[in-house]
Amino acid sequence: MPHIKFMPCGLEGEVAEGTTIIDASEELDLLGVAGLEIPDGCTRQCECCTCKVRIVEGWDHLSEMSDDENDLLADNGAEDDDRLSCQTKILGDVVVWFDGT
Ligand code: FES
Repeated sequence: MPHIKFMPCGLEGEVAEGTTIIDASEELDLLGVAGLEIPDGCTRQCECCTCKVRIVEGWDHLSEMSDDENDLLADNGAEDDDRLSCQTKILGDVVVWFDGT
């Protein structure tokens, strides 16, 4: 199973392949462990960009970015290593940055 680590808090664990990053944050209890909850302002419909996270390692171990995700990130001034956690599925080991800001 793929391994995901959240930085800077250090929470890590394994999740089923195909799990989205935001679902992984809930399965591993990012809120309980680190007091952080990734916002999902549009109920995960790829419309709001509030669930943006930064990929530190493992970019090649993620599902491909759709045109809609790419457009939404671009429209919101995202960095090149940002992904929408509600749209991005984990296919292999990854390290993700989310500090709640
Ligand atoms: S929750 Fe709105 S784009 Fe992910």
